[in-house]
Parts: sequence; structure tokens; C-alpha cells
Amino acid sequence: MSLKGKDYLSIHDLSVDEIHQILDLAKSLKDKQKRGEEHKLLPGKTLGMIFQKSSTRTRVSFEVGMWQLGGRALFLNANDLQIGRGEPVKDTARVLSRYVDGVMIRTFSHLEVEELAGYASIPIINGLTDLLHPCQAMADIFTAVEYKGDLKGRKLAYIGDGNNMVNSLLHVCAKVGMDISAATPPNYAPDAAIVEEAIADAAASGSKINIVNDPFAAAEGADVLYTDVWASMGREAEQAIRKQAFAGFQINSAIVRTAKPDCIVMHCLPAHRGEEITDDVMEGPHSVVFDEAENRLHVQKAIMALLMG
Ligand code: CP
Ligand code: NVA
Repeated sequence: MSLKGKDYLSIHDLSVDEIHQILDLAKSLKDKQKRGEEHKLLPGKTLGMIFQKSSTRTRVSFEVGMWQLGGRALFLNANDLQIGRGEPVKDTARVLSRYVDGVMIRTFSHLEVEELAGYASIPIINGLTDLLHPCQAMADIFTAVEYKGDLKGRKLAYIGDGNNMVNSLLHVCAKVGMDISAATPPNYAPDAAIVEEAIADAAASGSKINIVNDPFAAAEGADVLYTDVWASMGREAEQAIRKQAFAGFQINSAIVRTAKPDCIVMHCLPAHRGEEITDDVMEGPHSVVFDEAENRLHVQKAIMALLMG
């Protein structure tokens, strides 16, 4: 089974074996990088990076990762491309396929990314859509394994908005056999179709999926506590109303006390201290948020090497 030439749009598309290939290679690349050993798996290859939304981690980790693999990356602001003036995605897909060896795209519509992948003859990597954030979730599971080892029977509690982040966490937990409880306000639940996909995969892996409205019920006995912003990119206008709806859906010391004593706290970042997470928890002994951010680099290098190598 090989990931070569495939797209990376959704973790649901991957087999369990492919997920372990990514995690294993990421571990080996991280070890090599720490030892200062060369690992130029993509010499002469080019990644195009289309951004329709802001980014710190995704942009820098993909660009640096490509350099470390012996290739190079092009930052392409969507508003500067002709796509920003209405050139069809399907045309852009076929043009870029003639120049670069892979494209990472961050945009709003997941359908647009699927269309890009449908017309491109090169691997397309989802760098975040409104629906999914599969690069982040893979780095998160890699980080959880670093701290907790085998994730079977472990529990991740997600507290906050039913957004792209929890959707991809549902996918990955269901695949690797980790239990996941997501607590959101009733009107902000995770995507129903994604929950169905996760439940189907969980039946095979033995993971338990729970969607609830009580943050404390979700956090009970959790090994990993996870949260994300209350208003994702593109939802800025809803900030005030969301602040009211999400009151109580915060990772704070009371929630940490409800989880296991050795729980780790994760956040994909950027964080809004005082909203979805308190400053003391972000800066406290349970927080692994900067390891998590670092692991974006190692995991994405593995994804690129497997898809584009
Ligand atoms: N977590 C994440 O994707 O961060 P950026 O938005 O900075 O890329
Ligand atoms: N849910 C957030 C994640 C940012 C990395 C957003 O989409 O803005």
C-alpha cells in the first residue's frame, strides 16, 4: 500500500496502515532532524502553497519542511493569483500541475479543494478548510503518542466549537482506536456527516465516540484535553454572539481537575486566552501546545515525502 501520488484531503480517506506509515516516518524524520542527519527525500521537488486565509504554523512549517527535504516551496497568496480574479479552480489545477510537484491549499470551501484535487495530476494537501484540518489532527495524534504511547483505550476530550478541528480529530481518533468525547453548545455541534464517518470507523477500531453538551462530562477521565478558538477564520462577524454561546466551554483549572491527573492539554493555536482556554492552563504543566506546534513540521514532512517522493 502506498501513498505515492495520492491526495491528503481528509483523514477519513486514509487506511489505518497509511496513518501509521505517516506517523512512523514522522518519528524517523524528527529523530534525524534532531541528530542533524540529512534527510533530503524530495530533492529538486517544488510545493505550491495557496493561501486564502492567514497562517503562521502551516505556512512556515510547510516551507521549512520542504527546504529540509531538499526541495522548495512557493508561497502563493490566493488574492494575488488569477484564482482571486475568478480563474476557475479546474484551470488553475491543470496549470499548476505542469509546474509544481504538489500543492498545499488553505481555503474556505472544502468542495473547492476537492475540485482542485479532481483536476490536478499532482498530490493536493489540505492545509485547512472550513470543514477539516487534517494536517493539524495528524500532528496532534503524533504528539499524543509521544506523551501517552499506544492510544487504544485512551480518551481525548474536545471542548468548544464543532469546527474543522474537531471534525478532523473525530476522523483520526476513530481510525487509530482512541476514544473521543466532544462537548459543544447544542447549536455548534460537529458536522453530522463527519460524525457518521467517525462512528463507522470507530466500529472497526473499537474507539468510542461521544457528542455531548456538557464540558465536564466530556473531560471526565480524559488523557488529552483539546480546544480551539470559538470563532474560526471567516466567522469573525459572529465573535460577540459566540462569546455568549460558548461561555462555560473553556479549558480552565476546573476542567483540568476533572480529567486524569496526568492529562495533557492541547490547542492547535492560535489561542485566545481568557476565551476557550485560560492563561494559567496554557502556560501550566499540562500544556504541550508548543510541542504540538513543532510536530506540524515533522508530520507534514512525512506526508509530503510519502505523497510526492
Ligand atoms: N494551527 C494552525 O494551522 O496554525 P496557523 O493558522 O498559524 O497555520
Ligand atoms: N478552527 C480554526 C483553526 C485555526 C488553525 C480556524 O479555522 O480558524
